[in-house]
Amino acid sequence: MQQNLNSHLSIKEVQKLYSNKIPFRELDLLMEFIIDKPFLNFITQDDEKIEPRKLKQLDNVVKRRVSGEPIAYIIGKKEFYSREFKVSKHTLIPRPESELFIDISKQIISKKENETFIFLDIGTGSGNLITTAYCEFKDNKNIISFLASDISQKALEIAKKNFKTHTHKDLKVFNSNLLKNERLIDYLIQQTNEVKNIIIFANLPYVDENLKDDLLKKEESRGLSFEPSSALWSSENGLWHYKQLINQIINLKTKLKDTTITALYEINDDQKEILEKFINATPYRNTVSYKDLSGKNRIIKHIY
Ligand SMILES: C[S@@+](CC[C@H](N)C(=O)[O-])C[C@H]1O[C@@H](n2cnc3c(N)ncnc32)[C@H](O)[C@@H]1O
Repeated sequence: MQQNLNSHLSIKEVQKLYSNKIPFRELDLLMEFIIDKPFLNFITQDDEKIEPRKLKQLDNVVKRRVSGEPIAYIIGKKEFYSREFKVSKHTLIPRPESELFIDISKQIISKKENETFIFLDIGTGSGNLITTAYCEFKDNKNIISFLASDISQKALEIAKKNFKTHTHKDLKVFNSNLLKNERLIDYLIQQTNEVKNIIIFANLPYVDENLKDDLLKKEESRGLSFEPSSALWSSENGLWHYKQLINQIINLKTKLKDTTITALYEINDDQKEILEKFINATPYRNTVSYKDLSGKNRIIKHIY
């Protein structure tokens, strides 16, 4: 490939050069990133010449893509709920199935028109869920605050940037291992003097760590090896983090007796029964499960 890159090539020639390496749409995204022009230009002006310096940069990112690196990490962004989010190697790439968190929240809020709410996004990552919640609900005066936490300070920095980009406001964040940070608990207690409901988003690590070696060998899940381990893997059938969180929310509820806490947990289809069994052994057994667009159980709603 390299010898072709020392002289100018047209967009058309570049498309031909990589046509059997990566899909057309992915090449467009990589060209947009390197050439810094919207991809529509590549359709209308495909005779435009690209200089060798840019061709070499493009060749480098195509090689990274061919080696399995997710395109979102190469270009540093990913679309979620029709908005663009910055991502880094410290954040998970937002998944389309997680958009269900927002749709379920809309249902919950529309059924309680006169009640007040706080959103708390635990394991916020790039902040895609809490930022989208803000953008979708910002005109609703019954939503009092939008809070986010993560065990990773570096993820929180990205979440703050994304929130600022889309809202022009500062995101209130807590660096916390689940609900262990006392400052977070104190803040919730103080806020719930006036607020009746807390909605918790929990898209925590839920891929069974026993499956790690097998999954990473598979071509279709190669991209996982580029994502932060701390965002993906959990023990006890992938449910350790959720079990810890549920016990912590039960404890929180003893301090917030008059507040309804609705937690949403993202899971894999085959974890529904195991998680529901765990929940059914607690004092709070009110759950509903929701399917994603492919018909798989994806979110459990759990009311305390
Ligand atoms: C599956 S990612 C979800 C990211 C984002 N919320 C989304 O929906 O795309 C899980 C996130 O949980 C965070 N995390 C892992 N263990 C945690 C813990 N014990 N307490 C808080 N956050 C944790 C990770 O750093 C990561 O950002």
